[in-house]
Amino acid sequence: MKSPRTSAARRTVTLATVPVTVAALLLAAGPASAGTTTGGAGVGDPYFPLAGNGGYHVRHYGLTLRYDPASHRLDGQAVLTARATRNLSRFDLDLKGLTITALTVDRAAAAYRREGQELIVTPRRALAQGRDFRVAVTYHGTPKQVTDPDGSPDGWIRTDDGAFVAGEPQGAMTWFPANNHPLDKSSYDFALTVPADRAAVANGVYLGKHTAAGRTTYRWRQSEPMAAYLATATIGKFEIERYTTDDGIQVYNAVDPREASAAAPVLKKLPSVLKWESRVFGPYPFRAAGSIVDHADAGYALETQTRPLYDAAPDLSTLVHENAHQWFGDSVSLTTWKDIWLNEGFATYAEWLYNEQHGGDSAQQTFDALYARPASDGLWAFPPGDPGSGANIFGTPVYARGAMTLHELRRAVGDRVFLRILRTWATAHRGGHGTTAAFVRLAEHESGKDLAALFRTWLYTAGRPAHA
Ligand code: ARG
Ligand code: ZN
Repeated sequence: MKSPRTSAARRTVTLATVPVTVAALLLAAGPASAGTTTGGAGVGDPYFPLAGNGGYHVRHYGLTLRYDPASHRLDGQAVLTARATRNLSRFDLDLKGLTITALTVDRAAAAYRREGQELIVTPRRALAQGRDFRVAVTYHGTPKQVTDPDGSPDGWIRTDDGAFVAGEPQGAMTWFPANNHPLDKSSYDFALTVPADRAAVANGVYLGKHTAAGRTTYRWRQSEPMAAYLATATIGKFEIERYTTDDGIQVYNAVDPREASAAAPVLKKLPSVLKWESRVFGPYPFRAAGSIVDHADAGYALETQTRPLYDAAPDLSTLVHENAHQWFGDSVSLTTWKDIWLNEGFATYAEWLYNEQHGGDSAQQTFDALYARPASDGLWAFPPGDPGSGANIFGTPVYARGAMTLHELRRAVGDRVFLRILRTWATAHRGGHGTTAAFVRLAEHESGKDLAALFRTWLYTAGRPAHA
C-alpha cells in the first residue's frame, strides 16, 4: 500500500524509525488533503475497521489508574508519547465509555469530540510529520466490558473482588485511550492504585508498591514493545509469589486464593516450560514473566504480555499455550487480525510439541485424531488463513487446523528444518510484526522447497483437505 501523496522528504523521516510494514499501513490509512491530513479512524484492518488509528505511532504509554472495586469507579490519566507519521491536523484514539475531564496535546488544551469508540483530537496547531508529541487524557467513570464478535466478554471484566482485564482483540479501549491495533507497539509504565487489601497486576517488571491511607500503588514497567490488546491491569485479592529463574527472568505470579491449590502444581512448572520453549523457539523475548490466576467468568485465558491471564487455575497445556504466545503473538505481532493463525496455530502446535516431548501423544497422533473428523465437523468450517470475519478469529479451525498446517510443514521439510523455521521466525521478527506471506517465504527459503500448494491447501482452501 502506498500513501496518496508522499514526498521524498516525508518518506525519509518515518521509515527509519518504524518497521516497514507498520509505516506502510499507518501511512495508508485516512484521507489526504493538501499538505495536512486527518489521522483516520482505523489502520485499515478489514475485520476491525475502527481499530487503531492512522497517522501516528505511540512510543510510550504512561498509565496512572486508581480503581475502587466497591463503587466500580476508575480514575485515570494516560500520557501518550507519540510520533506523527504524517502532517496531522487531527488524529483519533480509541476509547469506549468513560468521561474525559481534560485533554492536552503538548500541555496545551486540545479540542476533542467523541464518536462511538473514536476519540477525535484536534490540537491547536497541526503536528508536523516526524514530530514527537505528548497527549495527556484525564478521565474517569465505570469501565464497561465490550462483547466481541464471537460473543466473548472483553476489556474491563468485573469480578467479585476487582477486575479481570483483558483486551483481545478490542477491549483495551474500555480502560485507556489507545492506538488499539497490534500494528502499533509501545512501551508502558503503570501506576495502579487499589485498596490496600487488593493487588493490581500489569505487564513487565514489578517496580514495587507503596501503601498510604489504606491504598496501595503498584508500579510496573513493560519496556519491550507491546500491542495494546496485551496490556492488563488485573485487580483482586491475590497471593503473590516472586522469584528469578536461573536464566535471569523475573517471575511474578498472582493467584486468587480460591484457585491456589489447583494452580500450584501447574505454576510450579513455569520455569521448566519457559526453559523448554526457549530451547525450541529461541531466547525468551522479555525480561519478566509470570501468571495471573483469577477467579472470573471470562471463558478464556489470554497471553497478556510477560504475564498470561487465566480466568481459573490453568491446566499444563494452557500454560504452555499462553507462554508460547510470548514468542508467537506477543513478541512477533500480527499485522492484520486475518493472520490470527500465526498466533493461535503456533501456540497450539507448541502444546502438541510439548506433549510429544514429555511422554504424551506425538504431534502425529494429535494430527491424525483431528484429521479423522468428518467433513461436517466444525474443524473444517472455514480455512484458518481466511477466517472471514472477526467472529471467527478464535474458532477451532484457527487453532487446530492452524496447528495442522504447521504439522504438514514439518512433515514436508523434516524436523530439523522445521524447528529452524520456527526459531528463525521468532528471532527475525522479535519485537516486531509478521505476516502469513512472510512466514511462507521464510519456510520456502529455509527448506529450499516450493510450499505454495501446501499452504494453499491447508490455510486457504475451504473444506477438509483430501490428502494429509
Ligand atoms: N488468545 C487467547 C488464547 O488463545 C484467546 C482470546 C479469546 N478472546 C476472545 N475475545 N474470544 O489463549
Ligand atoms: Zn492462544
